[in-house]
Amino acid sequence: MELLTGRVALVTGAGSGLGREYAIELAQRGAAIVVNDVGAAVNGERLAASSADSVVDEIRRSGGSAVANTADVSEWRGAESMVCAAIDEFGRIDIIVNNAGINRPSSLIELSERDVDAQLGVHLKGTLAVSHFAAAHWSRVGRESNRAIVNTTSAVGLHPTAGGGVYGAAKAAIAALTVSHAQELAKFGVRVNAVAPCARTRMVKESPAVLALMPQSEGFDRHSPEHVTPLVVYLASSLCRFTGRVFAIEGPDVAIYSPFGVVQHWSKSGTWTAEDLAERFADVDEQVRVDAFFPGGVASHGTPPRRTLRDLSQNE
Ligand SMILES: NC(=O)c1ccc[n+]([C@@H]2O[C@H](COP(=O)([O-])OP(=O)(O)OC[C@H]3O[C@@H](n4cnc5c(N)ncnc54)[C@H](O)[C@@H]3O)[C@@H](O)[C@H]2O)c1
Repeated sequence: MELLTGRVALVTGAGSGLGREYAIELAQRGAAIVVNDVGAAVNGERLAASSADSVVDEIRRSGGSAVANTADVSEWRGAESMVCAAIDEFGRIDIIVNNAGINRPSSLIELSERDVDAQLGVHLKGTLAVSHFAAAHWSRVGRESNRAIVNTTSAVGLHPTAGGGVYGAAKAAIAALTVSHAQELAKFGVRVNAVAPCARTRMVKESPAVLALMPQSEGFDRHSPEHVTPLVVYLASSLCRFTGRVFAIEGPDVAIYSPFGVVQHWSKSGTWTAEDLAERFADVDEQVRVDAFFPGGVASHGTPPRRTLRDLSQNE
């Protein structure tokens, strides 16, 4: 018996990059897979064809079970069709990996409406839509243990920096949804966790500044996508005892985030005045920026790990 024998998983954006790795490995570990991919360029524009079929062929050639779905996660009915494909083909759905993603980097000044709609559509609406249809199905068929949703967030959302923009905001929102959906879906036996991956995929290769931070090394290649997959398999399986948690992984380094928390607290009897607040806050850093997942990791972008607004305005 493999770890995921009898389970059925939907992996969105599984035609290339990390999603392809996840789909192949989940199948290797015994799950039947819906391989979803619309066939999009990194900026979200449609390609002539989806590579979902070739990933399905690869899985079947290795003895696994898979079916292709080429719908767009950002379309409500498209998301429904993916969940229905699992139920129609395999009779159930146990695991959702919300992985499909695009990137349209832009400064706030150069931002277009299309940049906003496309990125929020694929990341935020896509994650919501696919999770919604799975959750609605689970609520209809009733509680069963060991269901899982694995969402995809990013260092760009968890450690916001200039230029992170809509992509970062959508990824931060996915981290928030992860916590909220974990609480809502616990009664149906669903764990909801998120992964911030770090790997040299097509998306990274199209961004020279990020690619420069992930050089191909001899021997152990820290940024090879295959290092991310075991964490996704773990979160998808009964080995996982977490829900509502955000994980980061970069090569051999793995981390669990704390939720947003209060760092300092003040109280007085009655209402504060603006002047009182100014006095109380006088010794507090204007802004704290923590850039790195791991000391020296890619997400540090070569900057010191902790900086204040004063540092930023003086140095940038
Ligand atoms: N590679 C990294 O270091 C990194 C870091 C942080 C987050 N991520 C996230 O990981 C996920 C996978 O990214 P990747 O690096 O493998 O990129 P990738 O470009 O190789 O793969 C993304 C896949 O998603 C598909 N896709 C795009 N829009 C879609 C849509 N509307 N419906 C269905 N499929 C769609 C694409 O066709 C593509 O196959 C993304 O959510 C990305 O934002 C990646």
